[in-house]
Amino acid sequence: MPPRVLVTRHVYPAAIAILQEAGCVVDYHDSRDGMTPEQLGRRVRHADGLLCQLTDPIPAELLAGADKLQVISQIAVGHDNIDIAAASARRIVVTNTPDVLTEATADLTLALMLAVARRLPEAERFLRAGSWQRWEIDLLCGNDVHGATLGIVGFGRIGRAVARRARGFRMRVLYAARNPAPPEVERELEARQVPLDMLLQRSDYVSLHVPLSPATEHLIGVAQLARMKPTAFLINTARGPVVDERALIAALEEGLLAGAGLDVFEREPAVPAELLALPNVVALPHVGSATVAVRTRMCAIAARDCAAVLTGERPEHPVNPEVLE
Ligand code: DGY
Repeated sequence: MPPRVLVTRHVYPAAIAILQEAGCVVDYHDSRDGMTPEQLGRRVRHADGLLCQLTDPIPAELLAGADKLQVISQIAVGHDNIDIAAASARRIVVTNTPDVLTEATADLTLALMLAVARRLPEAERFLRAGSWQRWEIDLLCGNDVHGATLGIVGFGRIGRAVARRARGFRMRVLYAARNPAPPEVERELEARQVPLDMLLQRSDYVSLHVPLSPATEHLIGVAQLARMKPTAFLINTARGPVVDERALIAALEEGLLAGAGLDVFEREPAVPAELLALPNVVALPHVGSATVAVRTRMCAIAARDCAAVLTGERPEHPVNPEVLE
């Protein structure tokens, strides 16, 4: 019997073609809404492979009913929606799509930083509203990005790609991470490791690049926000729950920091009205990796790894490689 792959929601066509060319039968739920947990539970029972996205919760209970499942291929680098321990316990390989989205996400991080610092969405709203009367000396003045201090929290692929861009803006780069980067990377990026508290105290821009895990949930809360300069900006293109959103709203309302550029939120797609009411917040709908080329490649990479496992080959990006041993 050919392996059967459940594709949980709409994808770029490359993914379907790759699965079919590998001889898989594709059960394609071609909808943007995804499935209810019950629908997903019913369909995953017949699947050997699952091609899913970060909007699909894959808890242990779902996997308990998926007796045939050999592989879960996530079309994203983050995989906090999947119970990896439960998958590993059932010897299900989980794969993700790192690398391909690093540069696009770093681009968007810089875009958010510039947008919030230079008040770009506010300026555009002002122009479109027909409010522009004349050039004025203090019209919509913002903050300098060039020459400022950038604190990068999490110094993996994306954090380093942000640091590389920051050099072009002649920024001083600090980073906080569990492990130091190799000396040659620190030298190339002119980046210095400091404790998180020091980073928060010294940075003009704090940019988050850690994966979401129990260790990083609410990494930035009341105490951390209080350490930031009142002139500093927080940028989050990682995962919403890394920041305590209520604490961030309070800090912004009390003027404890100058603004925030947010691509991710605690309960997506819900965005608190208080955040949207603040002119010094730039809010985007989780589009860090959203270029056509990158998203197409993410779909293809995930599909290739899914097909690899189902045809007895080693996938390129296993999240739980111990299952393959
Ligand atoms: C990811 O890959 O984890 C991003 O959040 C979406 O590309």
